[in-house]
Amino acid sequence: MKAVIINCLESMVKEGHGLSQWEATLEVAGLPANTRYLPSQDIDDRVAMKIFAATCTTLKISKRQAAEAFGDYWVNTFCQKIYKPYFRGATSARELLLKMDQIHENVTQNIAHAAPPRFGYTWKDDKTLLMQYRSTRGMIDYLIGLVQGVGRYFREDLKIRKLSESELEIVFPA
Ligand code: HEM
Repeated sequence: MKAVIINCLESMVKEGHGLSQWEATLEVAGLPANTRYLPSQDIDDRVAMKIFAATCTTLKISKRQAAEAFGDYWVNTFCQKIYKPYFRGATSARELLLKMDQIHENVTQNIAHAAPPRFGYTWKDDKTLLMQYRSTRGMIDYLIGLVQGVGRYFREDLKIRKLSESELEIVFPA
């Protein structure tokens, strides 16, 4: 996984809980406390998953809470600093979510070894979207947190339900 994701987790933990908690997280994950990654660097998926899991241990939160906190921070803080242009063209949660498959493909197409998640879209009715998630990483709980973050960004109350490990149902307010 691209280290930019772990850079975001690092900022979130440091801003909210201080450097010592981030260093503790790295140590719980079995890494030296001074580990630093460049954004385009590749991190073995197993190591990245250990860091995410370690965050739950050090911050004493569930995986679901970690996924919500990360999704909110990625969309509403981190991306606003480094990926703002991707948000400019969209005026609603549904518009941005429908662009996510293309955005992930574009953003990673020139990066060696990137394996972005892919998304499929099926409309159940005019307010209900089935969003399919294809990834070897099994991060659908994080996908839920990210979709919630998108809802918060557009101030829309989205109803999100996990149908399986590879599909979400998202009900838009309008
Ligand atoms: C415009 C903002 C965004 C950019 C530039 C972006 C970019 C990326 C990048 C570079 C990765 C790492 C891929 C890799 O290592 O191969 C990633 C992972 C991921 N992204 Fe995004 N992302 C954005 C917003 C979102 C949003 C809003 C969602 C959900 C609706 C999302 C869902 C995910 C998930 C679930 C992963 C984890 C990797 C996986 O499941 O395989 N992203 N994203």
